[in-house]
Amino acid sequence: MADALTHPLTFNLPPDGSMLALDAYRAGGGYQGLEAARATAPAAITEQVKASNLRGRGGAGFPTGLKWSVLPMGPSARRPKYIVVNADEMEPGTFKDRLLMEQNPHLLLEGIAICARAVEAEMAYIFLRGEYTLAATRLRQAITEAEAAGWTEGFRLHLHTSAGRYMCGEETGMLNALEGKRANPRTKPPYPGISGLWGKPTVVNNVETLCNVPGILAHGVDWYRGLGRTADGGTKLYGVSGRVQHPGLWELPMGTTVGEILDLAGGMRPGLKLRGLLPGGASTEFLTPEHLNVAMDFSAVQKAGSRMGTGTMIVLDDQACPVGMTANLTHFFARESCGWCTPCWSGLGWADRILQAMERGEGNPGNIEKLEFLTGFWGPGATFCALAPGAAEPLLSAVKYFRADFERHIVEHRCPYEGWDA
Ligand SMILES: Cc1cc2nc3c(=O)[nH]c(=O)nc-3n(C[C@H](O)[C@H](O)[C@H](O)COP(=O)(O)O)c2cc1C
Ligand code: SF4
Repeated sequence: MADALTHPLTFNLPPDGSMLALDAYRAGGGYQGLEAARATAPAAITEQVKASNLRGRGGAGFPTGLKWSVLPMGPSARRPKYIVVNADEMEPGTFKDRLLMEQNPHLLLEGIAICARAVEAEMAYIFLRGEYTLAATRLRQAITEAEAAGWTEGFRLHLHTSAGRYMCGEETGMLNALEGKRANPRTKPPYPGISGLWGKPTVVNNVETLCNVPGILAHGVDWYRGLGRTADGGTKLYGVSGRVQHPGLWELPMGTTVGEILDLAGGMRPGLKLRGLLPGGASTEFLTPEHLNVAMDFSAVQKAGSRMGTGTMIVLDDQACPVGMTANLTHFFARESCGWCTPCWSGLGWADRILQAMERGEGNPGNIEKLEFLTGFWGPGATFCALAPGAAEPLLSAVKYFRADFERHIVEHRCPYEGWDA
């Protein structure tokens, strides 16, 4: 049965989709992690988070305790120090933070309060995707309740709703957006832990990451590490979208396999076969049915040639067009390019036009090679941020696994999956 010790992120959530109220949250052990943190020295909290092996759930898997430990501490540290909660969640196919904020906002607030004590932050901002209006309403209610109950003592908490660009989810673009500037990324180093919001030491963490923290403080490091099946600790919110029987979201031990997650989604809809999947949102590389036994954790998915990313998979079936799906994603990335570096704004637009032409039956010989050529300029380090490298991942892996489909579009001057709607 789901309880606080097996499902620390989602147990007790009302089945009707409403918000877990403060009294119910408290009755289930809520804010005990913060009480434990208040009795612990700040540096010791960070040490516990480090020892837990919690890795960031925003996509990159950076160790959370290590990130916190970078901030200067003590009386000589530059102040104020900030926490910025990345609640932008614009990655196509990703809807995990939304569930946490809509149904369990106090868990996030508790995680923020523990982080504030650990790094001695005076101010925290939640940077929320503008379309998440229900999450905004419930977070506001939860903030009011938490303030009245004294759970935010020692720091101030603000909710900021985004004006809406994918780029605002990149951590330094987000800092610029919060400062009222255009959301271009900043050159790193310096990293936000040293020079972040308004040049001050700043922790930027994803919503799900911070929601993992209360349990670590309340139940201990060994418990947390024991939750996962592999070296990465804890549980993970895994999601499935696409033409499966039951798309959804499940809290499972870190390291649950791709096949087990698909089974929970009821497998493919009748008449359809699994062809491939993007394991962690749009900006990850395709896996195929031969990868069903791969454990969904940061290391195993990387070994299989992709990234766990956000852990929310997008499924491709055998009657959906891989070129159309890739064209759709590339169109998104091209539209969301912030225009800062040429390989991205120019190259993504070019790839987008090629893929759209292929889908219309207007592709030409040499188009596939041109796509491969263009993505060669989007690698890590070639652009200011990870948007362009992320856009290359589904495109290049689609060409690798589904090359015959790309060729058919060109040779037959049509999409062979006519009637399929990207
Ligand atoms: C274009 C782009 C968009 C991003 N969008 C998000 C997002 O919506 N939410 C998120 O948590 N991280 C997003 N990230 C990752 C953040 O830059 C950063 O790694 C993350 O907030 C760190 O938090 P974590 O260590 O808790 O994972 C994005 C990165 C890029 C390059
Ligand atoms: S890679 Fe794209 S989104 Fe990132 S900074 Fe360059 S132009 Fe902007």
